[in-house]
Amino acid sequence: MVTGSNGLLGQKLTERILADKQHELIATSKGANRYPVEEGYSYAELDITNENQLREVITEFQPNTIIHTAAMTNVDACENNKDQCRLLNVDAVNYLIRICEEKDIHLIHLSTDFIFDGEAGPYREDAEPNPLSYYGQTKLEAEQLIQNSNCRWAILRTIIVYGIVNDISRSNIVLWAKSALEKGSPINVVNDQWRMPTLAEDLAEGCLLAAEKGACGIYNISGKELMSIFELVEQVADFWNLDKSLIKPISSDSLNQAAKRPKKTGFILDKAINKLDYKPRSFKEGLEIVRRQLATMID
Ligand SMILES: NC(=O)c1ccc[n+]([C@@H]2O[C@H](COP(=O)([O-])OP(=O)(O)OC[C@H]3O[C@@H](n4cnc5c(N)ncnc54)[C@H](OP(=O)(O)O)[C@@H]3O)[C@@H](O)[C@H]2O)c1
Repeated sequence: MVTGSNGLLGQKLTERILADKQHELIATSKGANRYPVEEGYSYAELDITNENQLREVITEFQPNTIIHTAAMTNVDACENNKDQCRLLNVDAVNYLIRICEEKDIHLIHLSTDFIFDGEAGPYREDAEPNPLSYYGQTKLEAEQLIQNSNCRWAILRTIIVYGIVNDISRSNIVLWAKSALEKGSPINVVNDQWRMPTLAEDLAEGCLLAAEKGACGIYNISGKELMSIFELVEQVADFWNLDKSLIKPISSDSLNQAAKRPKKTGFILDKAINKLDYKPRSFKEGLEIVRRQLATMID
């Protein structure tokens, strides 16, 4: 069972699980199903903040694994709407934990590099967290609840995820930069934050590997190249032959965003590579996949 199946990771997981036909899939998300294919799996509307509904859906479908992708993922919105953020990112996880404990369900939970302060990246799984934002704080609290539970659990941490799916509610850095540069719009991009951008397909593969292997513990699942956000956007421009002179380097301070961001994150991926057989693709290979998918969507 996947929560948040309408999201970027949720749709990639749906696609991946349907492709190899090895598993029965129950896709769930808030509101109507936005994945373009309706056959081959079940879809149930599920608001994860509604404990009764959560219990009903899980009792009806009896999953043996839950991949929990649903969350409030807009970092500034979390800062500005703390109650809603806590409800989704902490309280709902608590409901899930209780049900997974009762029914012995393997819980695979998605977390983030934003639990770190960015002073000592790239991080190993056992590095000391110190979130700078409310989003990061709630994701860390959820991790702690899971770690202190009696579930069979895995926490998969990831970093800016990019990719293209049908009708997503939130864009991502690659699509945003490509679209602005194609329109000839100048864009301001921070040159003092470093990340390992993650192809949504790679993250979905990491989730599936963790599910199939019954993995327990914390795993870093991200792209493998550390770059500044400025360099990332430059690579997007190079890849699609767009005008790099439109990209203006700026400092994070000048953006005045509600939530503070960590300076340099990035992950050491050895554990996922060795124990899960995780094989992250290069950023260029990821962009090539996005290009191919965009071409089939336009056709
Ligand atoms: N994207 C990143 O850069 C990134 C980085 C680090 C960690 N992560 C973590 O990775 C996970 C997946 O991220 P993502 O990029 O796939 O996020 P996403 O595209 O924002 O997807 C989240 C999905 O959850 C759904 N949702 C929101 N509230 C819900 C509720 N109350 N009940 C059920 N579903 C609800 C959303 O529905 P609507 O589409 O209808 O709003 C959305 O489809 C999250 O846990 C996130 O914290 C993401």
